[in-house]
Amino acid sequence: MFAVHLMAFYFTKMKEDQIKKVDRFLYHMRLSDETLLDIMTRFQAEMQKGLGKDTNPTASVKMLPTFVRAIPDGSENGEFLSLDLGGSKFRVLKVQVSEEGKQNVQMESQFYPTPNEIIRGPGSELFEYVADCLADFMRTKGLTHKKLPLGLTFSFPCAQTKLEEGVLLSWTKKFKARGVQDTDVVSRLTQAIKKHKDIDVDILALVNDTVGTMMTCAYDDPYCEVGVILGTGTNACYMEDMSNIDLVEGDEGRMCINTEWGAFGDDGALEDIRTEFDRDLDFGSLNPGKQLFEKMISGLYLGELVRLVLLKMAKAGLLFGGKKSSTLLTKGKIETRHVALMEKYKEGLANTREILTDLGLEPSEADCIAVQHVCTIISFRSANLCAAALAAILTRLRENKKLARLRTTVGVDGTLYKIHPQYPKRLHKVVRRLVPNCDVRFLLSESGSTKGAAMVTAVASRVQAQRKQIDRVLSLLRLTPEQLVRVRDKMRAELEYGLKKDTHPQATVKMLPTYVCGMPDGTEKGKFLALDLGGTNFRVLLVKIRSGRRSVRMYNKIFAIPLEIMQGTGEELFDHIVQCIADFLDYMGLKGAQLPLGFTFSFPCRQTSIDKGALIEWTKGFKATDCEGEDVVDMLREAIKRRNEFDLDIVAVVNDTVGTMMTCAHEDPNCEIGLIAGTGSNMCYMEELRNIELVEGDQGKMCINTEWGGFGDNGCIDDIQTQYDKEVDEGSLNPGKQRYEKMTSGMYLGEIVRQILIDLTKQGLLFRGQISERLRTRGIFETKFLSQIESDRLALLQVRGILQQLGLDSTCEDSIVVKEVCGAVSRRAAQLCGAGMAAIVEKRREDQGLERLTITVGVDGTLYKLHPHFSWILQETVKELAPRCDVTFMLSEDGSGKGAALITAVAKRLQQAQKEN
Ligand code: BG6
Ligand code: BG6
Ligand code: GLC
Ligand code: GLC
Repeated sequence: MFAVHLMAFYFTKMKEDQIKKVDRFLYHMRLSDETLLDIMTRFQAEMQKGLGKDTNPTASVKMLPTFVRAIPDGSENGEFLSLDLGGSKFRVLKVQVSEEGKQNVQMESQFYPTPNEIIRGPGSELFEYVADCLADFMRTKGLTHKKLPLGLTFSFPCAQTKLEEGVLLSWTKKFKARGVQDTDVVSRLTQAIKKHKDIDVDILALVNDTVGTMMTCAYDDPYCEVGVILGTGTNACYMEDMSNIDLVEGDEGRMCINTEWGAFGDDGALEDIRTEFDRDLDFGSLNPGKQLFEKMISGLYLGELVRLVLLKMAKAGLLFGGKKSSTLLTKGKIETRHVALMEKYKEGLANTREILTDLGLEPSEADCIAVQHVCTIISFRSANLCAAALAAILTRLRENKKLARLRTTVGVDGTLYKIHPQYPKRLHKVVRRLVPNCDVRFLLSESGSTKGAAMVTAVASRVQAQRKQIDRVLSLLRLTPEQLVRVRDKMRAELEYGLKKDTHPQATVKMLPTYVCGMPDGTEKGKFLALDLGGTNFRVLLVKIRSGRRSVRMYNKIFAIPLEIMQGTGEELFDHIVQCIADFLDYMGLKGAQLPLGFTFSFPCRQTSIDKGALIEWTKGFKATDCEGEDVVDMLREAIKRRNEFDLDIVAVVNDTVGTMMTCAHEDPNCEIGLIAGTGSNMCYMEELRNIELVEGDQGKMCINTEWGGFGDNGCIDDIQTQYDKEVDEGSLNPGKQRYEKMTSGMYLGEIVRQILIDLTKQGLLFRGQISERLRTRGIFETKFLSQIESDRLALLQVRGILQQLGLDSTCEDSIVVKEVCGAVSRRAAQLCGAGMAAIVEKRREDQGLERLTITVGVDGTLYKLHPHFSWILQETVKELAPRCDVTFMLSEDGSGKGAALITAVAKRLQQAQKEN
């Protein structure tokens, strides 16, 4: 009995001695809570550094955006392939996810070896090998000739700018294949897969194993927002607020960040913690100086750390009677699985003896106890360090959510965590001690990271399908070069049609004679009044022209025309106009001065002289009653009479295109075309009188107001009309009319955009499928908003801001789509307008029998002026479709009022000459 006690005492004493000895030897590896809290704070600072745009380039903890934005919501489904490369085992899998209820994930997998000559040989061979394994798997599972989406779990640091791309920053752990760093692994693998003609896969997602693990666990526990790997390597990811991620545009929602915490300390931040053993280990590793935190923690290194310690202790005579074996001297001979076995609760000591004996040593009882304790200290340090970094992440999550207490789940995977008997317990305990204000659940990922990768792929494949739907809609607006040529040729035919007496009555492009026959010659002078009605603004102007120096001074005032007047009675409209004139005359102190007036009236008028114009029909936003068929000059005169305050001498009525052409021609005599790309769309040009069958005489030229907005009203461009154009037409004031205008001008482009957005929303592709009241409201996308949205200088957030200003609550993804829609609509408009312009310049060139035509187009209108792309696309199109014409576009800076005044000046001169005769 006594002997037994004595034995026990002796044993306890010996154990204590051994433990004390090892503790003393490894005191530097035992980290107090104070130190751990300090490390935690350091890691918090590292995360911040990695997230900041300016600080990221020099940060050692890279905090890589993963483009995984949401955890699974259970709606994922489909059949996916998955590759899992970079952990201790390489696997190929097929994952079947079905929607009905959770836990409905079926997986079939196959492991393949990863020999050193493959993972450290030429990169191309590595990818070919991976592709071969994939092909083999697909053949055995009967998956060839079936297109399948693939999610690639690739457990190395990759810089991503989208989900389906990842540039390898550096190899870590055991891999060191040549020529892969700095290349996109997705395209490398895609290339390799292409060599197998019998398989067809589409790599939709690249995910880090931490991300896969988090997603796997989140599928079962929606609280899971952190993923940790404690395996061959170590790393963690978590869901970060977008507003904190400088490297990715947008601030809505969250995105998973792959911290790559293994590199913590690579900049020297942990030098006070590292020991001589860590330095020796690093020195002999594949990537010296790199992954210093990982090298203190993960499975690839723990065994080696133990070996280095044992060796040093043996050398110092503290173990094995000072003897070393050749095996103990060999790198890599102690592995993490040995450490795990030695630390087993009951069999640990026996295991230790066996392992040491296998290493060619002859350990004493005391040696075994000491070695076991070395293992404990090293693996405990690993758990402690991991806990400190994890505590930093949890604190960050809690602070992001502004919570006093955080309830969360951490998904974990990796052999170290799975096979080491004490590791999980120790880790959990320390984490809870370091962050007492977090209730953390640790969830072991039973099925590896691939289930999660499949979820990410499922979401990506849904996004891809949506993208296809969006592209299909946008493709309706895309015009081929052949289509544009056809538009040009049809326009040309319609122009001729409108000029001919026989066909004119049915012509949709009306080709209206304007009785403007000459260009300003610089001798015009005098003071004139001008009205400018029909564009965005109604203006009254005073224009003073001085002869000789071609200088013009203008004073103008903008007046509003309320909607109820635009669409009330004709009398009301003209009374309002006269009221505005009266205000202006008052304002200018001109009451009683009988000035000649030029009336820019931007609607189709049938003219029989310069001062007579019967409104054919209203266009754009006007619809006042009792005007169509009436002479607008008469209506204006009558309204002046009704007011009976002043008299005016109305000398000319001009279309805005004509006014614009004249304004520009005053500076450039070569300007013989006027173009408006504004609220409406129209064009005028100087035509040979002999071609105008409606007007007598063959000498000289006359300006024709084409009213090309009506092009297509006979159905001749129905083939390029979309359902959206039809909807816009139906909702307009003049259904069936002005079809070309409705595809090309400011008043309608926004409406087309709105119709497309409504359709996309109905298809669930935008605004979360919710059609808001705002989106149902006509006219919300004015030209200025379209122009802002399409501005290249604008960041996505600003686009979103504009949409929000318009009352459309959009995500950043929505904003991208809206911008694309706007782009497609305005591009088509500019191209169509260009095709029309090409028809006219070609006609002019041919009519004059010229090899090359040089001509200037005077342009005005908010679409042309404000939109960032309209003008250049228009010009490019003209160049392509009328290659023998050199067309200069000259922006009218002064509006059409100046031109109207010039026309009035000429008309007045003629009037007087006639009177004198
Ligand atoms: C596996 C995951 O379960 O764990 C892998 O599926 C991951 O994606 C691995 O890389 C990490 O552990 P280890 O120990 O294999 O490196
Ligand atoms: C103005 C002209 O500058 O542009 C008007 O003075 C013309 O006559 C107008 O109608 C066209 O542009 P918008 O965009 O105002 O319709
Ligand atoms: C290494 C890799 C990292 C991976 C981790 C766990 O640290 O760099 O990407 O997540 O190992 O496998
Ligand atoms: C409409 C009008 C036309 C005008 C154009 C530009 O198309 O019918 O006369 O020139 O808008 O304002």
